[in-house]
Amino acid sequence: MPYGYSNDPELDRSTNRVMVIGVVLLVALAAAFPVYLYFEPDAREESREENLASLASEGESIWEFNCSSCHGENGEGGTAPALNSQQFLQSASDEQMELLIAVGIPGSAMSAFSQDFAGPLTSEQIKGVATYLRSLEDDAPDVPNWREPTP
Ligand code: HEC
Repeated sequence: MPYGYSNDPELDRSTNRVMVIGVVLLVALAAAFPVYLYFEPDAREESREENLASLASEGESIWEFNCSSCHGENGEGGTAPALNSQQFLQSASDEQMELLIAVGIPGSAMSAFSQDFAGPLTSEQIKGVATYLRSLEDDAPDVPNWREPTP
């Protein structure tokens, strides 16, 4: 018997059993932690991508209702600049797009869309529509003169 705390052998046995279980659990936990650390970044990246995909799909319907009449069904342009353009998407950061959509371009048909500026969209919806535009970038065509109205 490794430990003898008391004169009661039944109590000693049960104390030892609890200690052994404790040590086993501790070792299992210590072993599991690196495994968790190994998989955690993948899990985080995956949830980030899912998040972006759902933002973009929400953004797409916002686009259809609020933007496509001027910028074209698929961002190919119309009375307003083409936004489905490699050159435009490379030149604008997400933050710049969000700001521009929020405040609009004074003196043009591009109105402010943020509720802070009496527009219809929340900042989350504006983020969604910018995420949707960003999602077009991989397949966006070359449109170097994106600001010229498409006939
Ligand atoms: C009533 C027409 C109209 C609607 C609706 C509209 N826009 Fe515009 N938008 C314009 C015009 C016109 C311009 C160019 C203004 C200028 O540069 O003088 C513009 C410019 C932009 C630009 C800047 C492009 C560049 O060349 O830098 C972005 C980004 C943009 N709009 C996004 C949006 C989004 C997103 C929506 C929907 C939430 C939207 N627009 C709805 C007319 C519109």
